[in-house]
Amino acid sequence: MSLAQLEQSILAEVAKASDEAALEAVRVAALGKKGSISERMKTLGAMSPEERKEQGAALNLLKDRVAEALAARKGLLAEEALNARLAAERIDVTLPARAELKGTVHPVSQVWEEVVQIFGDLGFAVAEGPHIEDDFHNFDALNIPPEHPARQEHDTFFFNEKQDGSRMLLRTHTSPVQIRTMLAEKPPIRIIAPGRTFRCDSDMTHTPMFNQVEGLVIDEKTHLGNLKWVLHEFCKAFFEVDDVKMRFRASHFPFTEPSMEVDINCSWEGGQVKIGQGDSWLEILGSGMVHPNVIRAGGHDPDKVQGFAFGMGLDRICMLKYGIPDLRAFFEADLRWLRHYGFRAVNVPTLAGGLS
Ligand code: PHE
Repeated sequence: MSLAQLEQSILAEVAKASDEAALEAVRVAALGKKGSISERMKTLGAMSPEERKEQGAALNLLKDRVAEALAARKGLLAEEALNARLAAERIDVTLPARAELKGTVHPVSQVWEEVVQIFGDLGFAVAEGPHIEDDFHNFDALNIPPEHPARQEHDTFFFNEKQDGSRMLLRTHTSPVQIRTMLAEKPPIRIIAPGRTFRCDSDMTHTPMFNQVEGLVIDEKTHLGNLKWVLHEFCKAFFEVDDVKMRFRASHFPFTEPSMEVDINCSWEGGQVKIGQGDSWLEILGSGMVHPNVIRAGGHDPDKVQGFAFGMGLDRICMLKYGIPDLRAFFEADLRWLRHYGFRAVNVPTLAGGLS
């Protein structure tokens, strides 16, 4: 067979190879140790110098052309394989979600989203802080010095002591986000901070991890009337009632002065709680005007700015709104419970489209 014939037959094989394995077989048959081109190379030794020079050059050119054809075919096959895969694995994202969609949104996630929607509409941004806090943000800056009795009430989870003797802790409330926000931003400040909180406590109405939402407004003029209005608007929107009576009871928190606990009216008819009806009261949150010491710790001048803060149990308002009796079930990941109390994943709460 002449070199030209050999080249033709190899290139025909290359063109015929329909996948990478077939192409590799063609390569081995031509360029492998015992391949057709390699065998011809071995005959060069027996040739005259003149002949060897001519044949050697021709064989090397042939080798290059074959290698080139192999590489080109390989690229083409890879592209074809990718296109075939893309076509086979194509997903039509415009199709509606499957009706048998089993997963549900956890009631706490639902309520979290509802709260963000309502306060978002009132002009509040969402702020965040770490779960692992230091003493300064969780206590000191909130006007709770080391010997303050409020520290005992918090049932704090502490980490092991560091070299300098200080201990990190799991935040016992979302109030440290007040400090972090004030240190990072200039008034006017209007934020809520939903998030996890931790206390060493467990019974029907307490779990070691629970959720709170903090609220903070700081500017030059905000007063107690604004606090009452914001909370009233929130309660009506959240519980989806035309009106709800509110009772502001004098209370005490180290970080607010004056401090108030807030109750809303409800009825217990038929063993079911109905918010906004009846003459019973339910406590739902703690609030007050931000203490001057706290404003100072947040890096601002309490003679120039003032404001209010509140803290509410997300799990608690979730139980009240959706009639869920036992808090502990929130964290047990029981599928039957989730299917009963969960929300459809495709229903995103909005004020315009309905919260729940
Ligand atoms: N941090 C308080 C608590 O966890 C709630 C609160 C927040 C009260 C802000 C007043 C102002 O009990």
